[in-house]
Amino acid sequence: MSFIVGEEIEGYAEAHTTPPAALLAELAAETKASLDSPQMLTGTIEGRLLEQLVHALQPKRVLELGTFSGYSSLSMAAGLPEGGHIDTCEVEEKHAEMARRYIERSPYADRITIHMGPALETIERLGGEWDFVFIDADKENYANYYEALLPRLASTGLMAIDNTLWSGRVLDEGDEEETTRVIRELNDRIVADERAIAVQLTVRDGVTLVRRR
Ligand SMILES: C[S@@+](CC[C@H](N)C(=O)[O-])C[C@H]1O[C@@H](n2cnc3c(N)ncnc32)[C@H](O)[C@@H]1O
Repeated sequence: MSFIVGEEIEGYAEAHTTPPAALLAELAAETKASLDSPQMLTGTIEGRLLEQLVHALQPKRVLELGTFSGYSSLSMAAGLPEGGHIDTCEVEEKHAEMARRYIERSPYADRITIHMGPALETIERLGGEWDFVFIDADKENYANYYEALLPRLASTGLMAIDNTLWSGRVLDEGDEEETTRVIRELNDRIVADERAIAVQLTVRDGVTLVRRR
């Protein structure tokens, strides 16, 4: 995956973002050393962005699709208000095992629940509305996640969808790869959706923020 902004300016932005806590830095290092596709981890800039959004919104119920090794869960947990909780969905035991270890070592162990199994099933099973949603699981299901969760977003809630610029491949109409197509179609659907107000940010690999009208 390549980021949307150039390497130099990305480095500058990262150097001017509050560095991660020691535990998150350790988690990032272990992820890089021992998991496949470590670039999936959100990292310093997006992690701090999620934390800031959560801190500003003060959500009670947060839903994450795609735990991986736990970086974004722990980033959001750092901004959660008293009584807030994060439900995060994962299918790979190897990923959840690492996330669990770091969550248990963090001050937020009682605020994060990892749900194993396909996210769509977990969404069905967990009832109610969400104050903040972070979508970062399998891209092929992005449109299904959007449709399942927009009606269940609280009226003051916010949805953040990751990788919506897909390394810039969304611009290439000749790129007919399934994931590119799904992301491009979702972006078009969101901006035309009468039910939603959206902004697409060029942070990392593209992050779209959506709220209900
Ligand atoms: C891009 S990574 C998530 C990165 C994570 N949010 C972070 O910041 O470190 C995507 C994760 O989604 C998981 N995943 C894939 N398909 C899934 C599904 N159907 N339901 C839940 N999780 C899924 C993958 O195993 C992977 O760990």
